[in-house]
Amino acid sequence: MTEQEIKKEIRRLCDERDALLLAHNYQRDEVQEIADITGDSLGLSMEAANTDKQVIVFCGVHFMAESAAILAPQKTVLLPRADSGCPMADMVTAEGLRDLKRQHPDATVVTYVNSSAAVKAESDICCTSSNAVNVARSLETKKLLLVPDRNLGRYIASHLPDKECICWEGYCPTHDRLKVADIEQARADHPDALFMAHPECTPEILELADHICSTSGMYEYARSSEARKFIVGTEMGILYRLRKENPDKEFILPSQALICPNMKLTNLEDILRALQTLEPRITVAEEVRVRAKMALDRMLAVPR
Ligand code: 13P
Ligand code: SF4
Repeated sequence: MTEQEIKKEIRRLCDERDALLLAHNYQRDEVQEIADITGDSLGLSMEAANTDKQVIVFCGVHFMAESAAILAPQKTVLLPRADSGCPMADMVTAEGLRDLKRQHPDATVVTYVNSSAAVKAESDICCTSSNAVNVARSLETKKLLLVPDRNLGRYIASHLPDKECICWEGYCPTHDRLKVADIEQARADHPDALFMAHPECTPEILELADHICSTSGMYEYARSSEARKFIVGTEMGILYRLRKENPDKEFILPSQALICPNMKLTNLEDILRALQTLEPRITVAEEVRVRAKMALDRMLAVPR
């Protein structure tokens, strides 16, 4: 089958299976191109919960499909590549978090959505890269355990000096590869460009940023800013929509290392197979799901 034939067959099967095709902003260009909706991790999970469609094909990584299954348990959630995990999410286990909680029984656990359902189930509240500071600020407790991303944790802590923040030592290997020298070089090559960075970047990188935001926040910033040029501090998949939606603006990737191999696993053949077989299916044990959903629901109740 040619690429065009595969795309046509995917769209036909989406109709036949009553399926919604979701793609994270870091997915391959051709996957984003045929998706019904592209977006950030939590936004897509909420689309999964709100749609009338019965089948969700989640082109992303494992924790995202799990979040969809937590929020929409009655639906069939498919992850076309069962092996597409997130190394940062894997840096904390439910057991490890229980240990930390025992050491700090007076703390509130704030867990980034980039985490397993089992870890969410051990958490008081979740957060995303776009609402992390607001979520942490909304809590009355002075002491917070910020899990699993130490960079997002330090970013939250820098905004809330009155809180005592203890960060789990996890990190995103992709954002970690962006170095200060890369930004200095990009700034030297493009002195008129603004630098936007994802809070998963290291504190040294965030210090250099003109704007810090989630992947969805980057679309908004690029659209609404007067600037014509942007240095983009996140995974390269985001360039597809940034360039499509802003043809008159220029987007510069400061490092070729900004590629998440897990996000690039899913290809068109995988999506086609998932729609044909309705596998691999992601489910969450009900006892875990209910507790994980409480942490997500608490986050959703925090005003934006
Ligand atoms: P957001 O799309 O939620 O900003 O997350 C970035 C990310 O690393 C997802 O894996
Ligand atoms: Fe995980 Fe980082 Fe890849 Fe996102 S970009 S899926 S946080 S490894």
